[in-house]
Parts: sequence; C-alpha cells; structure tokens
Amino acid sequence: MPKEALKVAIAGLGTVGGGTVKVLQNHADEIAARCGRPVVITAVAALSKEGLGFDISGYAWYDDAVAMAKDADADVFVELIGGSEGVARAAVEAALNAGRHVVTANKALIAHHGKALSRLAESKGVSLNYEAAVAGGIPVIKSIREALAGNTLKRVQGIMNGTCNYILTTMREEGLDFDKVLKDAQDLGYAEADPSFDIDGVDTAHKLAILTSVAFGVELNFKDVHVEGIRHISAVDIQFAEELGYRIKLLGVASRENGTLEQRVHPTMVPLDSPLAHVEGVFNAVVIDGDEVDTVMQVGRGAGERPTASAVVGDITDIARGISLPTFSVPADKLESVPTRDMNEHVGAYYVRLSLLDQPGVFADVAAALRDHQVSMESMIQRAREPGEPVPVVLTTHETTEANMRAALDAIAKLDSVTEKPRMIRIEG
Ligand code: HSE
Repeated sequence: MPKEALKVAIAGLGTVGGGTVKVLQNHADEIAARCGRPVVITAVAALSKEGLGFDISGYAWYDDAVAMAKDADADVFVELIGGSEGVARAAVEAALNAGRHVVTANKALIAHHGKALSRLAESKGVSLNYEAAVAGGIPVIKSIREALAGNTLKRVQGIMNGTCNYILTTMREEGLDFDKVLKDAQDLGYAEADPSFDIDGVDTAHKLAILTSVAFGVELNFKDVHVEGIRHISAVDIQFAEELGYRIKLLGVASRENGTLEQRVHPTMVPLDSPLAHVEGVFNAVVIDGDEVDTVMQVGRGAGERPTASAVVGDITDIARGISLPTFSVPADKLESVPTRDMNEHVGAYYVRLSLLDQPGVFADVAAALRDHQVSMESMIQRAREPGEPVPVVLTTHETTEANMRAALDAIAKLDSVTEKPRMIRIEG
C-alpha cells in the first residue's frame, strides 16, 4: 500500500519561494523515490499571482498567509516571507498551533523567536526546520544536529554573508574603496537597496546566534552577540593585510569555554594560508571544531534561488521521511542558559592603523600608550612620507585583552600627532 503524499503549503513566492516550487516540481519523482511517498504542493500564498514564471494553477490560492497557515489542506507550512515580526511570525505561530510542521528560511524570525517557537513546535509534536536560514545551501544545521551528534563542539565560525564577502573580495581584487564597490553591487542587484542588515553584520549575527544554540545546546541569545560590520574597512587596510600575510573577512565566531560563550561578528584578518582566506566572492563557508571529528569545513552558496530552495526542500523531505528532531539539537526545555562573555574579555591579536604626523617623538608616545596598557607590539610598517601629509602607520600586536587594546587606542587617539581615529581589526590565529 503506497504511503499518502505529504501535502505542502508555501507562503511567499519570491526568489526562494519560487525556487522551492520549481525544485519540488522538477524533482518530484526523485523526491518521491527517496521519501517513499510523493511530496505535493497543495496551496500557495503571496501578494500577487502576476509574473511568477511557473505554474501554480493546480494549487489552492491564498492572499493571506495566516489564513493559509490555519486552513490549508497541508501537513507542512513553508514560510518564505521574511522578517522577524508581522505576517511571517503570525503565520508560523498559526501553522504550529494548527499542528502543522513548519519549514522556514527566516533567520531573523528564528534568531529572535526561536526559543518560543521551538517550545510551541515541540508541544504540538511537529517539526520546526530552518536549514536554509543559515548559510543558504550549505547543510550546516543538518551536520551539527545529526552527523556531528557524537562530538562536544568547541567552536563554530564562518563567512556567512555573501554580500559582505563579495564586497571585500572585489575591494581587494580591484583596489577600490567600500562605497564604490557597494554602489556597483547594488546596481548589479547583488546587494539590497537597503544593505544595512548585510554590511552592518546583523544578518551574520542572526545566523551565528542560531548556530550557537544548535552547536552548544544553549538558549538562543541574539541580543548579546557582539556585532560589527564592514563599512569602515578601507582599500588601504586590505592592502596592508595582504602585505602582512592576511585577508580580511567578515567572520561570525562562536565558542563555549569555561562556562561561558563567545559570540562575535566582526571583520577579521585571517592568515593567507588558512582555507577561509580563499573563500571568495559570494561564497559562504562554515568551520566546525569538534573533539572527535577535529575540524570540518563546508563551503557553498549562502544565498540565491536554487541553493536556498535546495535547503528548504531538504527540510521538507526530512518531514516526509518521518525524521523529527529537537529544534536546536536538544529539547527546548533542556537548552542551557549560558552567559555570553563581554567583548572586553576577548583575548586576541590586533591590527591597528594610525595616521600620524611624522615628527620626532611620535613613536615614543604611541609605544608608551601601548606599554601603559600592557599591549605588546609584534610588527610595524610605516609608509613613505609625502611632504606635509600625515603618514599611515600600521602595527600588529601580540595577544592581549580587548579591554587593554581599547584603552590603549583611546590614549593614542588623544595624542596631538594623531590625525584620524585609529582603526583596529582583530586577527584570528
Ligand atoms: N543577504 C544574505 C547574503 C543572504 O548576502 O549572504 C541571506 O541571508
């Protein structure tokens, strides 16, 4: 006796929603063979039916995603609307309350409300799957929740925003400044008209908060993620980084140690001989360190119609196969509440770029400020002087605390011979 089809309702028919409809249509036979039952779309919801470019004539149509979440003839509600509040949140809550499984690509929704939604899903005995929310087509949630379940994970880090990685790569390859590359990326449709979520690091922080919860079995804590974006990175920093043997990447880094978490998103200098340095353009990468497996790195497309739809459909096929997992690796009521360390306690090495008047005693003053705050210099580069112009000076430090580094920079910024705010970039080992 063939098993009944799994019925799917899809809310949002934009890039990812449209891609999901097409993947389910184009791969219907393979999916049915792999799941042992057909997976069929029964209903769709969107703002408009115009210009979709794929056939939805066989599906029930809803203008209202919340109504579809409540009423559709569907086992699974797929939320591809976006946004942490409004219709997306209301529709996901309605679907879970109606006892439907939910699949979403919505990182903001999970980062802000994952704890409550996971409790709701578990109380109703349904799945809440969100593979596409973190690093698009890379199956990182599946890797952590399933394949690496025999490990104690120590650290998860990655390049998880294609827009930032594209901008940093293009700045380096073409020697251009941030504003010019961002404008070109917007004109080409690679960056959003309002790019702030991407370039200010918020998108990466959403993804990191989710990864932290899954990797370490802890309650989601987006508000304590330290977040810095890439707006202040200049072409000069990128050139100096290359000269020093590094490449600048926007990294999200999470670790669990001594009863606390580190969760930080910031531009980072990674050594040129590290694999992450060579993940370029729109590609994403996630590196997971486990006590048994050692280091695993996954690279792939973190955005776009087909890679993101691929992850959404993977989540749907898990439900079709009857695979049901706790939302964040362990049941919601077993997630630990672990504090995130203040960024001032971070220990690492630093790159510092100063703009100095080239006059006697300037270096002595800078060195004194470093000494007074227990910061030890590792190397220094000074560019040739143009008559009457300040000189760029770059130094790297040995490991120190963020608190010491910040205090030293505050003291340096007050020196008369310093003509611009000092710039600092963290170096990852
Ligand atoms: N805007 C993201 C990026 C993809 O540029 O990678 C969706 O999170």
